[in-house]
Amino acid sequence: MKKTFIGLAAAGAMLLTLAGCAGGGDTTAGSSEGPKPVDELVVGFAQVGAESGWRTANTTDIQAAFKDAGIELKFSDAQQKQENQIKAIRSYIQQGVDVIAFSPVVETGWDAVLNEAKAAGIPVVLTDRAVDSQDDSLYVSFLGSDFVEEGKKAGDWVVEEYKDSTDPVKIIQLEGTTGAAPAIDRAEGFADVIAADDKFEVVASQTGDFTRAGGKQVTEALLKSNPDVDLIYAHNDDMALGAIEAIEAAGLTPGVDIKIVSVDAVKDGMQALADGKINFIVECSPLLGKQLVQIVEQINNGETPEKRIITEETTFDQEQAVAALPDRQY
Ligand code: AHR
Repeated sequence: MKKTFIGLAAAGAMLLTLAGCAGGGDTTAGSSEGPKPVDELVVGFAQVGAESGWRTANTTDIQAAFKDAGIELKFSDAQQKQENQIKAIRSYIQQGVDVIAFSPVVETGWDAVLNEAKAAGIPVVLTDRAVDSQDDSLYVSFLGSDFVEEGKKAGDWVVEEYKDSTDPVKIIQLEGTTGAAPAIDRAEGFADVIAADDKFEVVASQTGDFTRAGGKQVTEALLKSNPDVDLIYAHNDDMALGAIEAIEAAGLTPGVDIKIVSVDAVKDGMQALADGKINFIVECSPLLGKQLVQIVEQINNGETPEKRIITEETTFDQEQAVAALPDRQY
């Protein structure tokens, strides 16, 4: 299966639908009425949950952006369960919202509900995470990070960090939620880069579900079977922060005895980096609210948003974290 994006023709048809069609699957009708007044627009947003500092920042940013734009946002928290997200999307379809946006908890299993939205003539925007579907007409736009690239950046740092070492480098990987795009892609990008040198060995790889508690629990268990591990690659800061607690509880020094590289760059992660407990962080920005509002406005105006909008991101070492922390928004 491949990740696909909506075709232009289908996107255009869905956009026209928003401006003038009463739904019922007629995605080809043009608008004689023009755009709706912004304060009459209603957007339904189905969030993954509140599993991490990143997610909380993402929710806050999206809610603030819609409030500032004067657009009504219906919000639901799926508590990391796909069935809850599907229920929320069905409820938005029933309510006849103008646009549905969501961050899919996992990649697969969305075709049925997205076809229902399409049949109702409601455009769908993916934020943060992709779906894995053969049908590229099921959503208008996908706004979010390039997770494979993030994994590669983490791998690049590891390769550079150990460039002078000829000894084996034993790595534990703390995976995100099983089946989620960032877990799949960050693992892939990282594996691609470290494959260049067979001194790198991922000795254990398990999910911590993107939570601090999960990161701690998995690290505790994996340290028992892999006491000589050199490095932890955590798919997000929250799991890295949980790993720090487990490493300290084992009487070791995080960042020194066991190095840590993670993804996100939320404030708590950046503080741990500044304190030398994490060694490197690849940024993943949760600030998607303003761009999502823009996409909704484009749809309302009958314009075609870009199919794929990639978030701009950077990386941080310790010195850069110290400099960035005072102005860090999340
Ligand atoms: O999809 C983005 C990821 O989900 C973030 O890296 C992680 O912290 C969150 O839970």
